[in-house]
Amino acid sequence: MDKLVIRGGNPLLGTIRVSGAKNAALPAMAAAILTEEPVILENIPQVRDIETTRKLLAEMGAEVELGYGRAQHRTTICCRDLASPEASYELVKTMRASTLVLGPLVARCGRARISLPGGCAIGARPIDLHIKGLQRLGAVITQEHGFVEARADRLRGAEVVFDTITVTGTEDLLMAAVLAEGETIMLNCAREPEVADLADLLNKMGAHIEGAGTSTIRVKGVSKLHGAKHRIIPDRIEAGTFIIAGALTGGDLNVAGCDPRHFMALLQKLGEVGVKTAYTADAVRVMGDVPLNSADMNTEEYPGFPTDMQAQYMVLATQAQGTSVITENIFENRFMHAQELVRMGANIKIEGSRAVVRGRSPLSAAAVLASDLRASASLVLAALVADGETIIDRVYHIDRGYEHIEEKLRGVGAQIRRIGEILPKRAAAPAVRA
Ligand code: EPU
Repeated sequence: MDKLVIRGGNPLLGTIRVSGAKNAALPAMAAAILTEEPVILENIPQVRDIETTRKLLAEMGAEVELGYGRAQHRTTICCRDLASPEASYELVKTMRASTLVLGPLVARCGRARISLPGGCAIGARPIDLHIKGLQRLGAVITQEHGFVEARADRLRGAEVVFDTITVTGTEDLLMAAVLAEGETIMLNCAREPEVADLADLLNKMGAHIEGAGTSTIRVKGVSKLHGAKHRIIPDRIEAGTFIIAGALTGGDLNVAGCDPRHFMALLQKLGEVGVKTAYTADAVRVMGDVPLNSADMNTEEYPGFPTDMQAQYMVLATQAQGTSVITENIFENRFMHAQELVRMGANIKIEGSRAVVRGRSPLSAAAVLASDLRASASLVLAALVADGETIIDRVYHIDRGYEHIEEKLRGVGAQIRRIGEILPKRAAAPAVRA
């Protein structure tokens, strides 16, 4: 199994580039199910979850070309024949976002059979709201043998109120509603930029969607969609992770190719902590080597502080003067990284959904275990400032969502290397046709 070996202490200097957003690319790939014509997506990140989605679509009968190059990370997906509108347990268990195919499959094929995802390292994460939403649009749902099956000759538009704000639930239902008969009004929707990006793509494909990016989305159903070309938005969580890396290491880092409008809550919180940043339309410069002060933080749905940045923020809190209380409001078990950080010398106490972090603690290198994607990112950040050489095990978690993280960080001065290699090197990556 791959490990990352990181020697801490180097300030990060120079420019680091942000890849396309994994969480925007995954629903965009699922959206290709909605048309017989090719959908071309650019700025696709070279991460494991994209490869899993390629396999998922290919198993259904889609043609997927995926090519990575210096200039263009692009996929062309053609779902002319979807002989098998199913998602197997083998794939869903490795990536919960596989459930994103449920809505588009039932809308396009009249039937979808998806393995239920089961438990997860960060919380229960049920998909009951996806199912309820589809039922409101007229789908008949059955569940047995660990699978959910949805059937509908043609979905019908309806009013759907989400009980809880759900990102992939909003996206799943949006993809179902675009081919439904009549109008769908979705209330209490997720407002994440990834939802708005999906709606942009769907509208390019001929859908009629208004209000994506707000809590009320209106969809006028159409009978058919066509192919389109779309560029995926930059990854706001990868950008935020690099910004915190710059702040922590006392560097001078230019995080390029991002959209600061997508992470204003983070920039505002960093300002409270004392981190100096300056931003333009597509880059953030972070100037470190300043004293850091503690600041409490609560995770919220967008536009609040993202749960996907909570673990990384916790590392910053360990290096700030004073006590920071971090409250996790989205997932019930998203503090797995805390105990690993404690093993590196952090002073963190977990009290239910709150983590009380007492700074500033000198961190020292240790052998640590990654437990999920963002927890792994926090361990990388801690290792960048720890005294000595940290070894992070189970880095397949980080490969699910960060493109070539060790190459990118090495490029700005980090001492980081991988033992073993599971992802193909960028230059050697062949175009894949499935
Ligand atoms: N929830 C339900 N029922 C549902 C759906 C959600 O109770 O049917 C609950 C969840 O258990 C959770 C809350 O609602 O407590 C919010 O979950 P949400 O559905 O919004 O999460 P998600 O759509 O499964 C996406 C991202 C996650 C990110 C969350 C929250 C993708 C592919 N995944 O997950 O990203 O943490 O939204 O912002 O978009 C990551 O990238 O590391 C990651 C985990």
